[in-house]
Amino acid sequence: EYTQPTKTPVTVAVTGAAGNIGYALMFRLASGAMLGPDQPIYINAIELPFAMEALKGVIMELRDCAFPLVKGILATDDAEQGFENADYALLVGSKPRSKGQERSDLLKENGGIFETIGRILNKVAKKTCKTTVVGNPANTNCLITAHNAPDIPSENFSSMMRLDHDRGLAQAALKLGHDPQDITEFAVWGNHSATMFPDLTYARLFGETYRHTFGNKEFDAWNEKEFIPTVQQRGAAIIEARGSSSAASAANAAIAQTRDWVHGNDGRWLTMGIKSGGEYGIPEGLWSGFPVEVDGEGNYAIVKDLPISSFQEEQIGKSVKELLSERDAVAELLH
Ligand code: NAD
Ligand code: LMR
Repeated sequence: EYTQPTKTPVTVAVTGAAGNIGYALMFRLASGAMLGPDQPIYINAIELPFAMEALKGVIMELRDCAFPLVKGILATDDAEQGFENADYALLVGSKPRSKGQERSDLLKENGGIFETIGRILNKVAKKTCKTTVVGNPANTNCLITAHNAPDIPSENFSSMMRLDHDRGLAQAALKLGHDPQDITEFAVWGNHSATMFPDLTYARLFGETYRHTFGNKEFDAWNEKEFIPTVQQRGAAIIEARGSSSAASAANAAIAQTRDWVHGNDGRWLTMGIKSGGEYGIPEGLWSGFPVEVDGEGNYAIVKDLPISSFQEEQIGKSVKELLSERDAVAELLH
């Protein structure tokens, strides 16, 4: 329902706005799904020169929706213009993987994009700008972006792990015939990759542990043989089925992650890819998925003092190893 906007407009910059994810993302953003029904926005859509004609079409459609919150739309292939005074940046623009590739195979092609964008954000965006990195490999691309934007606090950069979180919630809920929001205290650790660790250890269903509700005896086998691999491989399974990578669900996750970061939620745990300060043995300076809580005022904090079993340690360790090797592979972008 439409509420008369009362707030000062904010600027949201989106890269890759004419791509697959962009096509789903722009309309949700413009409808108020990310920043709320009382927050007017300027949308700065940034694309590569070859995609400007396609972007023109997307923007024609966007105008045809007559969204009341949209106060202006800029379409540009000049990133400096696109990020000028940005309050929020959604970094989607980059190459997706195809069948048979891992996301880290994209580092060579995509890493440089995020070095450039980091520098430009540092130069022209607001110092308070909040950035969500979607382009793969998202965690290491986020590390590159933040590193190249030293004047913006590093906690303002998050990599998208919300899709993994929501995939996990959906699978766990389906299995027991519940709704995803019935499950709390779930999170995904590590890299947005096949080594991620979707972790049901602390998960609860209406106060009871998920494990207990599932049946203590059967839980481990299902968790290790079905649940974890299904969530880890979901991106590849979608590429296999659709012929191209997830788009509408990725756009939904970008909207949801940024929305909850900005506006909070009802006290549930979220998963966000954020800079490690060394918590839970994850080396300082890596961008990793963590269980986080948000305060509704734009801040998040890692959930503290969770007991970690040897199984969890082993799972998290595998993903950390991969994050470290990705960081090594892009050392030249981290001067
Ligand atoms: P796509 O190829 O359909 O669209 C990407 C768009 O980005 C293209 O229109 C391209 O012109 C544009 N682009 C490329 N480089 C750019 C730059 N430097 N500046 C501005 N625009 C640029 O791809 P897609 O399906 O929309 O996916 C985009 C990225 O998101 C991929 O890297 C994909 O792997 C990733 N992804 C991440 C998640 C996640 O959970 N983190 C989920 C799905 C997809
Ligand atoms: C996803 O998880 O769907 C995306 O990261 C796309 C991919 O390459 O799997």
